[in-house]
Amino acid sequence: MVKKEAELQETSLVKGINKYNKLPQYFIIFDPYFKIMITVSNVSLQYGKRILFDEVNVKFTPGNCYGIIGANGAGKSTFMKILSGEIEPNKGEVSITPGQRMSVLKQNHFEFDEFAVLNTVMMGNKRLHALIKEKDAIYAKPDFSEKDGIKAAELEAEFGEMNGWNAESDAAGLLTTLGIGVEFHTKLMKDLTGKEKVKILLCQALFGNPDILLLDEPTNDLDVETITWLENFSRF
Ligand SMILES: Nc1ncnc2c1ncn2[C@@H]1O[C@H](COP(=O)(O)OP(=O)(O)O)[C@@H](O)[C@H]1O
Ligand SMILES: [Mg+2]
Repeated sequence: MVKKEAELQETSLVKGINKYNKLPQYFIIFDPYFKIMITVSNVSLQYGKRILFDEVNVKFTPGNCYGIIGANGAGKSTFMKILSGEIEPNKGEVSITPGQRMSVLKQNHFEFDEFAVLNTVMMGNKRLHALIKEKDAIYAKPDFSEKDGIKAAELEAEFGEMNGWNAESDAAGLLTTLGIGVEFHTKLMKDLTGKEKVKILLCQALFGNPDILLLDEPTNDLDVETITWLENFSRF
């Protein structure tokens, strides 16, 4: 996919989803609070001799949902990884309004296979998840010192500010909304069907309360009810 800004607009590879009644075939970028903007400047990427992007310039303006469509292997997932910072382009840069949280539903649905369902959802809030791990590690120390006590108190304060005590019930509530019952909470992701997994990964993406939501092929494996729910949700 070698497209410059003019071509991108001309071929409508990047289109406002508002023009569609349905979700686009591939992914949407969703900014629910009307305050973010992503700027892609002169982004180029090639794998070996294969040029995927050559000086792409595109702006995602506040208040819109966008869809990117293209043939298999055109580079849609790669472009999303560049937007989310997972991979660096060879040239150019992506800038995102500072302080905005971004969540991603990746096309790879196997990444969390070894984790339990409720934990997977909670991992959607990265800072909270890191805090819980740090706290647990300190409390598990056999030689818990005064210094550890001070650190634990600091972590507990941040945990409280982030509404950490409600995190589990919030995550469970999201899962219930999408029809994943309590009986699934302790199951491992790898033991679920593709349809169940993608709902849980969607909950994970939403759990971080993102300002920007990147969804790569969100409708793969989602049932009609969830697609309708997502459509209504993404219309704000
Ligand atoms: N890490 C990588 N190394 C080399 N080639 C890659 C890598 N990731 C993706 N590709 C290639 O880049 C192209 C675009 O892939 P991808 O972004 O997954 O396409 P899409 O999501 O549009 O189907 C494909 O030809 C793929 O094989
Ligand atoms: Mg893809």
